[in-house]
Amino acid sequence: MAASPAVGSPLPHDAPAWVSPFPADVAFAAASAADAAGVALHPAEQALLSPRAAPRRVLEFTLGRGCARRALAALDAALADAAILRADARRPAWPAGIVGAITHHHGLAAAAAADSSAYRGVGVDLEAVRSPTAGLLRRILRPEEREQWQALPPAERALAFTVAFSVKESIFKALYPAGGVFLGFQDASVALPASAGGAVFPSAGPGPLTWELREPAGAAAPAGYRGQAGYVIRGGFVLTGVWVPCQGAPPPGRARRRVSSSR
Ligand SMILES: CC(C)(COP(=O)(O)OP(=O)(O)OC[C@H]1O[C@@H](n2cnc3c(N)ncnc32)[C@H](O)[C@@H]1OP(=O)(O)O)[C@@H](O)C(=O)NCCC(=O)NCCS
Repeated sequence: MAASPAVGSPLPHDAPAWVSPFPADVAFAAASAADAAGVALHPAEQALLSPRAAPRRVLEFTLGRGCARRALAALDAALADAAILRADARRPAWPAGIVGAITHHHGLAAAAAADSSAYRGVGVDLEAVRSPTAGLLRRILRPEEREQWQALPPAERALAFTVAFSVKESIFKALYPAGGVFLGFQDASVALPASAGGAVFPSAGPGPLTWELREPAGAAAPAGYRGQAGYVIRGGFVLTGVWVPCQGAPPPGRARRRVSSSR
């Protein structure tokens, strides 16, 4: 449920220098339309696209798969050519031992991937910053989130709404593959930063956020589960990442695959 870009607005041709919103052991890659010429789809991936797919869908699907392969290569060079097909409920099918997520929006794309021995899931989402209508606000934010949101200076509200919305989509992408539960927007609560009289999102990130499940999302993510998220803000877009560590996983840097993040 990505926000619609303004009609007629041009596709960004340069990925606006995204940095990773994730911990260092989650591989991350981002791309823009300018990178499309260097990305090739596997024939089996090509077959996932409808022959009637719009050029924008073809571009974004291709960029998303390209980012996913770059993230996989950062985890393990042997995975650099892996095909990423489709599993149930349209989720990407990652190689064995890997969890990951893909996002694309308005000619930009990003992907994250991690070792499944360390993470139960990761989610990533891109959105254009937008002001919500009253109806959208009620549908996406829970009462306690709306209260936090309304306490923000008006100039901060579009950004805060977009970050919360995007974190929720990242939560879904991180948790659905492991738990198979269709979480709704009211099933998690994002803790928005409180206004301290200045900008709530003073930097372009990466900034940390927390969230809490209000409904269970599978055995390992019960109601009350508290998770972490990161956000990055660039040129009218918000990128968020959510990571759900395995219980008892070693801390980053110990006994995991070598990883790196990239633009
Ligand atoms: C599935 C959903 C999260 C995708 O987000 P989006 O903003 O529409 O689109 P994005 O470009 O960011 O992401 C699209 C990618 O998500 C991935 N995706 C789709 N369904 C998925 C699922 N069930 N699980 C994990 N990833 C999924 C795919 O990789 C897809 O790209 P592809 O078709 O090129 O492979 C969104 O459409 C949706 O259904 N949201 C409602 C559920 C939700 O967010 N609940 C909030 C819980 S707190």
